[in-house]
Amino acid sequence: MIILGIETSCDETAAAVVADGHRCMSSVVFSQIEVHHPFGGVVPELASRKHIEGIVPVVNRSLQQAGVTKKELDAVAVTQGPGLVGALLVGFSFAKAYAYGLNIPYVGIDHLQAHVNTVFLEENPPPFPYVALLASGGHTAIYYVTDHTRMELLGQTRDDAAGEAYDKVSRMLGLGYPGGRMIDALARKGDPEKVMFTRPYLNKTDYDFSFSGIKTAVNRYIQKHPDTYRKQIADIVSGFQEAVVEVLCFKAIQAAIEKKCRHLALVGGVAANSRLREKTTRDAADHQLTVHIPSPKLCGDNAAMIAALGYHYLKEGKRSELDDDVYSRSRK
Ligand code: KG4
Ligand code: ZN
Repeated sequence: MIILGIETSCDETAAAVVADGHRCMSSVVFSQIEVHHPFGGVVPELASRKHIEGIVPVVNRSLQQAGVTKKELDAVAVTQGPGLVGALLVGFSFAKAYAYGLNIPYVGIDHLQAHVNTVFLEENPPPFPYVALLASGGHTAIYYVTDHTRMELLGQTRDDAAGEAYDKVSRMLGLGYPGGRMIDALARKGDPEKVMFTRPYLNKTDYDFSFSGIKTAVNRYIQKHPDTYRKQIADIVSGFQEAVVEVLCFKAIQAAIEKKCRHLALVGGVAANSRLREKTTRDAADHQLTVHIPSPKLCGDNAAMIAALGYHYLKEGKRSELDDDVYSRSRK
């Protein structure tokens, strides 16, 4: 089954062609970073406009790169939510019309569940059940995953998402948007023990997170050291990153142990973080856990993950209707 995936939930216009839920034939991601960079974050109205400009060329390129014609498509899978409503509507309306015109089914996909399912686009995917840590710009949560289309929420952030904390700290330090990749690179040049921040565990026995306090602690440090902090930026971001990574890693491993799972997946934009990948893989090995982390380009938003999950929905007989609508907030 050949599925065209479409993703426009935030600031990436993406389309991909995936066969049978795991064989990625093409994945095109048109990033709007340059548009939003001057504002230090995503401007929803600008995002929608850019998706409108980008959607047709991005879809055409994904078909071209996959070497398939639209007549060969069996279905269209598209992000239905959560995300920015205006941005989602561009991809969702396009997918409806495209599928209708081709007389093939279309199916609306949950963006978070698609991230969690990304590990099936890689070699050696985990067996079910597995535990997944999803850390992105909009969400940070831990799930117990029993099937491609079924997962149970074990805990989530009560305030900022991990990626959001990276982006906000980056903005405070004048490093630009998006902050994750920049902090990741800069932190390698710093000493994580020079400027230490508290570890926001909340309660060590549950799987909820809170990252707004650590962001405030970084801000307080900057205000206390207005003349010197610029010379310490590498140490500050290194200390910040270590605190975030330690909590994410600890809770993900604890959840896998409690749920008696031998397999742990790290997904979402923050799973591209080199320190998180390294620490989780090492610490998990101490507990005989196998960690599955998609390649960095599949961690960030992409449409291959939408098409891959679409396959499983369609196999279960799920289809979306022409009057279905997008949703902005998480349903899971
Ligand atoms: O999954 P994603 O592309 O979009 C959402 O669904 O939110 O995640 C984007 C987030 C941004 O906050 C970005 O700063 C963060 O992922 N990110 C990283 C890294 N690369 C991207 N955070 C830490 N380290 C990275 N290397
Ligand atoms: Zn995402």
